[in-house]
Amino acid sequence: MEPSPKSSVAGYFSRLASTYGEGAFYARRRASAIQAIASELAAACQILDLGCGNGAFRPEIRRLNQQAEIIGADISFAMAIEARHRGGGSALVVQADAIALPFASATWDVVLCSRSLQIVSDLEKCLSEIARCLKGGGRLIAFLEGSGLAAALKEVMTADEWVDFVRVTGSQLSRTNLAEYFRLAFERAGLEFEGRCASFTVRWPDIQELVRVRWLPLVSEAARVEAERIMVALGAKQKLASLNLTLTEQILLGQKPD
Ligand SMILES: C[S@@+](CC[C@H](N)C(=O)[O-])C[C@H]1O[C@@H](n2cnc3c(N)ncnc32)[C@H](O)[C@@H]1O
Repeated sequence: MEPSPKSSVAGYFSRLASTYGEGAFYARRRASAIQAIASELAAACQILDLGCGNGAFRPEIRRLNQQAEIIGADISFAMAIEARHRGGGSALVVQADAIALPFASATWDVVLCSRSLQIVSDLEKCLSEIARCLKGGGRLIAFLEGSGLAAALKEVMTADEWVDFVRVTGSQLSRTNLAEYFRLAFERAGLEFEGRCASFTVRWPDIQELVRVRWLPLVSEAARVEAERIMVALGAKQKLASLNLTLTEQILLGQKPD
């Protein structure tokens, strides 16, 4: 279900513009991740939300910092429009590709990349652009995908249940830990690396809701009906019905030297 040709990333995410980030799973993930970087956000004057999607992080950032200039950027026009709309029409959002940023050098105190860095077409170019656009002492802050959901679900599901779940979500949740790969890439871009973690809890209904807002908008009506059937059957299993998982969002910080 992931976009295969790189050029289709924008098209893929455009189809999720009205649903991405909805529901309890995303809300808890956002709250916990934002808390872990609250001091950096509160101290920043210029914040770029790169790969901002439909702008779900904007109100969270605003709560911590009423003064900062916050600009969203996304390669998907539909996402950028939705982010602007959700920001009350006055939010500054641009359509831009992270590998060629339309900003002057040394502009940003914080560049936030929530689950966007791992899908850019050229990570080295993107990191070099981010490093160029950061002020001295400024930070790139990236949230990685996964949060351990796949591993945790695999633990409690039988092999057949896991196969059913993967049929609904595609292979995306089974990605492995990318933190080490990114640490090396940050350092090659001249950014001093720091890793942090943020934990949040989810139950089975939250996961069902996640599947509905993140994957089902991308499939046909027939596949959606089948996916709903599988999710209801899985939810009837005692082990899943009583699930209470603690997941961990990996947070990577890269500071540009002064
Ligand atoms: C998984 S979504 C995350 C959205 C948002 N950051 C959040 O966490 O709610 C990834 C976003 O990155 C955007 N994106 C992907 N590649 C990009 C690129 N090269 N430049 C800018 N945005 C990109 C996608 O269009 C999508 O909106």
